[in-house]
Amino acid sequence: MKVRVTDTYEDMSDAALSFVVDQVRHKPDSVLGLAAGSTPLLLYQKMCDAMKEGTVDFSRIRTFCLDEYIGLSPEAPQSYHSFMKKELFDGLGLPPERTRIPDGMAADIARECAMYGAEIEAAGGIDLVILGIGQNAHIGFNEPGDTFVPETHVVELSEATRQANARFFDSLEETPHWAVSMGIRDIMLSRNILLLASGAGKTEALYQAVCGDITPKAPASILQLHRNVLVLADKAAVARMPTKYLD
Ligand code: F6R
Repeated sequence: MKVRVTDTYEDMSDAALSFVVDQVRHKPDSVLGLAAGSTPLLLYQKMCDAMKEGTVDFSRIRTFCLDEYIGLSPEAPQSYHSFMKKELFDGLGLPPERTRIPDGMAADIARECAMYGAEIEAAGGIDLVILGIGQNAHIGFNEPGDTFVPETHVVELSEATRQANARFFDSLEETPHWAVSMGIRDIMLSRNILLLASGAGKTEALYQAVCGDITPKAPASILQLHRNVLVLADKAAVARMPTKYLD
């Protein structure tokens, strides 16, 4: 697994855009898996701009988000439902039936997890999943642990993740403890994977993902086993990376 390095976050987002556009031009009804969070924000903005300018048509894509907090209503401003709607789906004009997000308010959450996996399968699987990486090397909300969890599942967020994400909430206390996340199998079955990493805060996690042992203690390291992964990172995120891993 090699890392394509760009000078800046903006350059990384441009390179990501061109990868996503190639995918959707090649297959206009592509199924995309999507991360929320800060890293893909500029990519999402650029996707909306490209759609507006008519460079590419995203109207036939279907999307499955990687995760959602448990206990937040879709309308809550900090929910990933709200985030993705505001940052991407509205700009692309995608209706809710094309944009599936786990329901963190489902009365039967185990059933919701099972349905989510089944819906991904019924859609023909994911063509391209766009991932960020947590400072603890999580992907989606697959947190470090003793095993890889294959299917969509309920996860207790680690303290590190809650602290990192507290910036989106009024306080750490208000930051949810639980989430629903796509599992590692769901991610690994995606035909293509785009992993994005930006900034010095991701240096250690990216090092573990790319150069470290494949272990559930650094969930992103499993990506080393996938044959179609593009890792795009800015200079700051590869500060520790030996040059043989850089493209
Ligand atoms: C969120 C997700 C997470 C984030 C990761 C990095 O949907 O999948 O794995 O990608 O926590 O978050 P940012 O980009 O905010 O640093």
